[in-house]
Amino acid sequence: MNITIVNFKGGVGKSMIAHQLITGFGFCGFEIDPYGSLSDRLPESVERIDIQQKNIEKPKKETIFDFGGFDDIKLDQAIGYSDLIIIPFIPTLETIQGTVDTLVRVASANKPILMVPNMSQKENDIGDAKFVFEDTLGFEVEMFPIPMSVALQTAINENRSIGELSKQGGIKAYAYKKGAQLINDLHAKIREYENI
Ligand SMILES: Nc1ncnc2c1ncn2[C@@H]1O[C@H](COP(=O)(O)OP(=O)(O)OP(=O)(O)O)[C@@H](O)[C@H]1O
Ligand SMILES: [Mg+2]
Repeated sequence: MNITIVNFKGGVGKSMIAHQLITGFGFCGFEIDPYGSLSDRLPESVERIDIQQKNIEKPKKETIFDFGGFDDIKLDQAIGYSDLIIIPFIPTLETIQGTVDTLVRVASANKPILMVPNMSQKENDIGDAKFVFEDTLGFEVEMFPIPMSVALQTAINENRSIGELSKQGGIKAYAYKKGAQLINDLHAKIREYENI
């Protein structure tokens, strides 16, 4: 299956999710972000798509499209190849509009959308965001929350999957295991959208 990860808002966790799906579950990646570092970090599995390039070739293996924090002409094409669109966002009132814009932009493609409230500070904010999205769209959206996690940030910094990190012992083992379980659950959720 192929997955597009997009939000025109920057710094919401798009590349973090892409990184963990690629390192943990064998996906390949296309990085459509001239400012991104995913292809430098994972050169074996991630290909950088030049910003000037008008087309993306159809992926031959299971691929994640990791977009930068802006709209791109190749977005429609990536979505066309994808079974699922993941929209990570930080659920605060100030940033919700950018996410609504993204949601409205991709909703017309009629592909399944999974919203990922990331690094939320207050439980209520997730429910409020869900209300705004569904009110705008007129249909229900599924949410998979990811909390702020030092373990996840460590996995990113060490350029490894959280699953691999969780196999090491030490005093942080519990935090790593919790993070690994979360990413496993995200992957299982994503697989529910395979071939539908
Ligand atoms: N749940 C989390 N817990 C801790 N750190 C996180 C979490 N999600 C993301 N981060 C960190 O937040 C920063 C921003 O995330 P990331 O680079 O994935 O955002 P992005 O949406 O890809 O940004 P851009 O639009 O610039 O491409 C990174 O340092 C990332 O490792
Ligand atoms: Mg990114």
